[in-house]
Amino acid sequence: MEKMQLICANCMDYFSEIQDNSIDLLITDPPYKVTTRGNAGNTGGMLQERIFNDGNVFAYNSTDCKEYAPEFYRVLKDGGHCYIMTNHKNLIHMLNTFEQNGFHFIKSLIWDKGNKVMGQYYMSAFEYILFFRKGKGVRINNCGTSDILSVKNVKTKGKDGKNLHNTEKPVELMQIFVENSSKENEIVLDPFMGIGTTGIACKNTNRKFIGIEIDSNYYDIAKSRLM
Ligand SMILES: C[S@@+](CC[C@H](N)C(=O)[O-])C[C@H]1O[C@@H](n2cnc3c(N)ncnc32)[C@H](O)[C@@H]1O
Repeated sequence: MEKMQLICANCMDYFSEIQDNSIDLLITDPPYKVTTRGNAGNTGGMLQERIFNDGNVFAYNSTDCKEYAPEFYRVLKDGGHCYIMTNHKNLIHMLNTFEQNGFHFIKSLIWDKGNKVMGQYYMSAFEYILFFRKGKGVRINNCGTSDILSVKNVKTKGKDGKNLHNTEKPVELMQIFVENSSKENEIVLDPFMGIGTTGIACKNTNRKFIGIEIDSNYYDIAKSRLM
């Protein structure tokens, strides 16, 4: 395959193009509903600005993990690692669904974002990353990595000063997962790639990358960052 394979599609329509046991590493930050009840409060901040469409953050937000977890398992190689970013509301559903589809839950990692969002019940300063494996146990490349990852939450701005993507993740964070769970020239898949952050981490570290994004605006931005 080419070093960078970017696809503008609903990943659920594209999975049939990806062979069984062909992916070395899966890293993704899937869409999910966000509720403010008892959490965000009246901050007027980014979180509130992002919420529209009955709790949907994006125009395309309706893919439940029950749909994609079996496909993730099918395409990943034996011993492959899988990192899924999520929040506290979706944590249990994600975890149960992935385990029911054959994944072994290794542990939860914490992304310490270095900024805080106002709330009525403690300020939010971190996100969860669920760390799974398929089949045999393969350790990470740098066992000295902490399970609390302190990486600044920086967003890329467009010419108008607005975020290119409101839930963009830092390259530095994705690169930790890429470097710890794959080798050079191996294939990394991100089926909800947004503006291509996982792809940049792969480019920086000489991994092959397959990225899928349904929104043509985000896909075009990813393409311009990666090609
Ligand atoms: C949380 S964002 C990912 C952001 C990404 N980590 C980044 O740093 O740019 C999730 C993305 O999944 C996309 N998406 C939602 N449903 C999709 C689907 N069925 N297939 C492919 N992409 C989808 C959304 O448009 C959104 O850009």
